Amino acid sequence: MVEKMRIQRILQQKKTDISLTIEGWIRTRRDTGSFSFLEVNDGSCLANLQVIAEKELENYDQEITKLSAGCSVVITGDLKKSPAKGQDVELHADSVKVVGWADPETYPLQKKRHSLEFLRSISHLRPRTNALGAVTRVRSRLSFAVNNFFQKRDFVQVHTPIITTSDCEGAGEMFQVSATGEKNEKPFFGSRAGLTVSGQLQAEVYAQALGRVYTFGPTFRAENSNTSRHLAEFWMIEPEVAFCDLACNMELATDLLKFVLSDVLENCSEDLALFDKFIEKGLLAKLQGVVEQDFVHITYTEAIEKLTGVTEKFEYPVKWGIDLQSEHERYLTEKMYKCPVIVTDYPASIKPFYMRFSDDGQTVAAMDILVPGIGEIVGGSQREERLHILEQRMIEAGIDRDEYDWYLDLRRYGTVPHAGFGLGFERLVQFATGMSNIREVIPFPRTPGYAPC
Ligand code: 4AD
Ligand code: MG
Repeated sequence: MVEKMRIQRILQQKKTDISLTIEGWIRTRRDTGSFSFLEVNDGSCLANLQVIAEKELENYDQEITKLSAGCSVVITGDLKKSPAKGQDVELHADSVKVVGWADPETYPLQKKRHSLEFLRSISHLRPRTNALGAVTRVRSRLSFAVNNFFQKRDFVQVHTPIITTSDCEGAGEMFQVSATGEKNEKPFFGSRAGLTVSGQLQAEVYAQALGRVYTFGPTFRAENSNTSRHLAEFWMIEPEVAFCDLACNMELATDLLKFVLSDVLENCSEDLALFDKFIEKGLLAKLQGVVEQDFVHITYTEAIEKLTGVTEKFEYPVKWGIDLQSEHERYLTEKMYKCPVIVTDYPASIKPFYMRFSDDGQTVAAMDILVPGIGEIVGGSQREERLHILEQRMIEAGIDRDEYDWYLDLRRYGTVPHAGFGLGFERLVQFATGMSNIREVIPFPRTPGYAPC
């Protein structure tokens, strides 16, 4: 049997005069007098393989000349050096088997470029386009690079629960989970349960046993914000490290961002070049810059001072104590510093109960990383490891201490300074691909009023 090969491998190997089989979908067909050119894509890479199908093939008139975009085919032939410009090899077909037809009258993906908005309306077909296929490959590589980063540094991956009874961020944005028809019965889980907004609290449990852990999974937020950077279901990477303070946390987050971006620059160059050309001009230079530059570090108080000193009119007025809005974050990273900015030491009043309270009596050891085009990409902190202060903070936040007794136990028995952060995976994919809307970087986006498939 002739070897089956993926197009990416064929193009990488640069071998010629071998027989092989490819499986894929037709992108275009062009007929000349004596043969047809077929452009075939199999999803392994952006490039198509050009196939030459001669008139002599037995199904030439009946089938090959009727092929159109979207038809699935299995083609066996000889790989030859190509005389044409822009490609090294071409496949001279011995057989072209049509597996599935795609009626050109109704198939929505025609040769012209479609808008990303239109493609969103056909989320079951959009991965067949160049742009969305490329996003999917870059997303997969970023996921691999994230795991690689942590595994290389001896972190242990922990699968934290999706159904939980604790609202980590305390923002009341949890989707509730119940069994159907539960209304009048005892709750399925004994008490009110919901979809996790963050795996952090459970990651803390494991960090205080295994030292360095990370969780990477889906998280859910019922926040009613229809923006280009929010999803109701998104993925988050959350490391948690024992014997680690805010400085060590910032270093870990910086190293992670630089590692994964330099990985995709190296391993997804063809896909990134497409984005650089059509989606965000200058993307490659931006990513290279982030890998090489030092990130700016400023405190929240310094950020507020800087922002009050600029002439820019903000929708939300700037004063100490406000939560930084996207417009403020983007001003800092895009206009003022033009590089990633780490903002630390936020007012305790705007941050969750678990962040470590500082000696100034006003701020907590929090850090957010802001990047151009996105704003906040990472949110993290050193955690409060002192039992009595944590209890006090929970009282102030109106949190039921009985429900979180297990969390307090971590401070009762062998407590240690520890820290961690959450990196929004879709915001990372947005940053790496230049996609301005977060709905383009997750296969099936879920937003208020929208969850097809
Ligand atoms: O800043 P957040 O809310 O932090 C936490 O959840 C912490 N418990 C993380 C931790 O310390 N382990 O969320 C972290 C990141 C944000 O910086 C952002 O990148 C992303 O998650 N994020 C969202 N991404 C898409 N859609 C949403 N609705 C998001 N909300 C947060
Ligand atoms: Mg945040």
